[in-house]
Amino acid sequence: MTAVDDGLRAQLLACWTDVSNAGGSVGFVPPVTPAEVAPYLDAVVERVHLGREVLALLRVDGEVAGFAVLSLSVSPLRRHWATVLRVQVRPERQGGGLGRVLMTGVHRIARDRGLEFLHLTVRGGTGLEAFYAGFGYREFGRMPGAIRVAPGDDRDELHLTCPL
Ligand SMILES: CC(C)(COP(=O)(O)OP(=O)(O)OC[C@H]1O[C@@H](n2cnc3c(N)ncnc32)[C@H](O)[C@@H]1OP(=O)(O)O)[C@@H](O)C(=O)NCCC(=O)NCCS
Repeated sequence: MTAVDDGLRAQLLACWTDVSNAGGSVGFVPPVTPAEVAPYLDAVVERVHLGREVLALLRVDGEVAGFAVLSLSVSPLRRHWATVLRVQVRPERQGGGLGRVLMTGVHRIARDRGLEFLHLTVRGGTGLEAFYAGFGYREFGRMPGAIRVAPGDDRDELHLTCPL
């Protein structure tokens, strides 16, 4: 998806807010309001329209069920890979295989663009690396204490990579 209209923006905003408030690791800690998430979504939409990011959209019966963002590098030396951000499935639809459908779509988009591998980060202590391991992602490093979930609750940031 390389264009986002107002209707789609509203569904993306609801999705990102609801997933965050259900405890998802997508850049926020609960509670968050749509107004707090909106500037971050609008920054994504702007980069999508500039061609710097691609939106992988998961739809069920025409409604947004989840999404992920593929962030392309502006560096000419880094055009053969990209970073996957904000991977999420709506809370009421999680656990039914849609995360797998979404990641399969992300990989198809990346392959179609000629990318050779992907990078993503995971919040330590969530166990989410097990989800990504199923697609071939392996940890190659971690930044200790990079994510301050709350005062006194610093988490490592795990860096994963996956060949395409
Ligand atoms: C992570 C997320 C996208 C997975 O989507 P989902 O629809 O729940 O996952 P699926 O039902 O497709 O599960 C696919 C596989 O991953 C496993 N899995 C799913 N969530 C997992 C988790 N949190 N930890 C470990 N394994 C997980 C499933 O058991 C399943 O394994 P199987 O194929 O061996 O049965 C979804 O739970 C979500 O949106 N979470 C909140 C947002 C978030 O934290 N995103 C991660 C950002 S790094």
